[in-house]
Amino acid sequence: MSFTLPVTGLVPTVSFSTKAPKQSDALLVPVTQGDTLEVPVTSLVPAGLFEALEAVGATGKHGEITRVLIDDQLVIAFGLGDAEELSDDDVRRAVGVLARSLRGVETAAISCEFGAGAIVEGLLLGGYSYPGFKTSSSEDSAQPAITVVGEKEDKEFFVASEIVAESVNLARDLVNTPANMLYPEVYAEFVQGAVKGTGLKVEVLDEKALEKDGYGGLIAVGKGSARPPRLVHVSWSPRKASKKVALVGKGITFDTGGISLKPPSNMENMISDMGGSAMMLGATLAAARLDIPVRIDTWLSMAENMPSGTATHPGDVITHYGGKTSEIINTDAEGRVVLADALARASEEQPDYLIEASTLTGAQLVALGARTAGVMGTNELRDRVAELARDAGEPAWAMPLPEETAEDLKSPVADVRNSHNSRNAGMLVAGRYIEAFVGEDIEWAHIDIAGPTYNTSAAFGYTPKRGTGFGVRTIVEVLRDFAG
Ligand code: BES
Ligand code: MN
Ligand code: ZN
Repeated sequence: MSFTLPVTGLVPTVSFSTKAPKQSDALLVPVTQGDTLEVPVTSLVPAGLFEALEAVGATGKHGEITRVLIDDQLVIAFGLGDAEELSDDDVRRAVGVLARSLRGVETAAISCEFGAGAIVEGLLLGGYSYPGFKTSSSEDSAQPAITVVGEKEDKEFFVASEIVAESVNLARDLVNTPANMLYPEVYAEFVQGAVKGTGLKVEVLDEKALEKDGYGGLIAVGKGSARPPRLVHVSWSPRKASKKVALVGKGITFDTGGISLKPPSNMENMISDMGGSAMMLGATLAAARLDIPVRIDTWLSMAENMPSGTATHPGDVITHYGGKTSEIINTDAEGRVVLADALARASEEQPDYLIEASTLTGAQLVALGARTAGVMGTNELRDRVAELARDAGEPAWAMPLPEETAEDLKSPVADVRNSHNSRNAGMLVAGRYIEAFVGEDIEWAHIDIAGPTYNTSAAFGYTPKRGTGFGVRTIVEVLRDFAG
């Protein structure tokens, strides 16, 4: 069985060349802001460009886009800001803005003097747009073909970054697909199709297997839905692996809250509640295609959280994979319940590191806003993940697991309860619950991406509206770091 997404994002075509194309509709030229405007590159720059840009008042400010015609050649200048303090992410974000300004341009050329990797990522990530299902397409679906011009040595960075960007865009596509089209059964089939030719192995546990093997959390959350849950295990076993890593992702294909029903406003955004699983799948695919020498076991916990006559009630006590019990206080705290099973299962393999990502709490948005992920876990790995995320341009911040939050999870009838009756520290209490299911002596990190995974406002930098693919690049960097 294989399932393909009904619609995927539109992206520009990028190709690498050591020679500038003879002719392009547009030359894409970076400009920077010193004391005055500067054109900091030498290739693909027509004579008279500086004067033409100055004449129209270009400043080189970060994110500024200026179009000028020089002897019939269109030049689109994109501002990088202060050249002294340029990070890769400054380049990526500026190129992302550029990529969104290319309407009407069929062919373009850009020099990769500011880093082939950052430029490809900026183009492919910033140029992504989700067309949806409109019958009369108002948006121009024609995408530009862009030649990235560089030296021979740039090619490998181009290729690697293209792979990573494709994984980010895959995660976006998955998040953007409405829940009537993406539900556990077909999501699992999609994964089986997506790994073809990568060397990854996939094993899918359907509802019968989950029941038989005691995955009580997945069953409890999934049983209100007509669409049964799945646990998908993707594994990457390269020959020279020195470290063993487990990745776990929340795959709630829609979260109504269940019997603890959510209010209707913005509930449609809950199509993004499988963002953690999309992130971990994207990173795992990239790791295989990049041949990162680390053993990876990825566990995607898929279920649809619905209210119905068969749904779990508040007060129910369930038994997770591995035997621990949870009292369900709030059926809307479902993510941790499906993750618990996957965490217990993943821990059985005794990984050196376990990293889990989930759109887990509204409290993450309250604490850190829509763009910054919260990272919890064992001190060292937590700090390492947060720092590598920031290096990749994905804002993340280490959060504590205060001693007293352990109290919040005490239940009179089960090992833990899934929610506490307080507004205090919701993100951290969820982190504590996660901790309860991670095997002893395993270094672990939990990344709450409730806000970052889905952009409900306008596009910015290389981040489009809706699914962002947040976290894929962080995990790829973490895996590269583990590989040494
Ligand atoms: N999927 C939600 C968290 C969420 C909220 C993600 C907003 C993205 C945007 C999660 O399942 C949830 O409902 N969490 C509850 C937990 C509470 C009942 C303890 C929450 O945050 O309100
Ligand atoms: Mn919920
Ligand atoms: Zn949820």
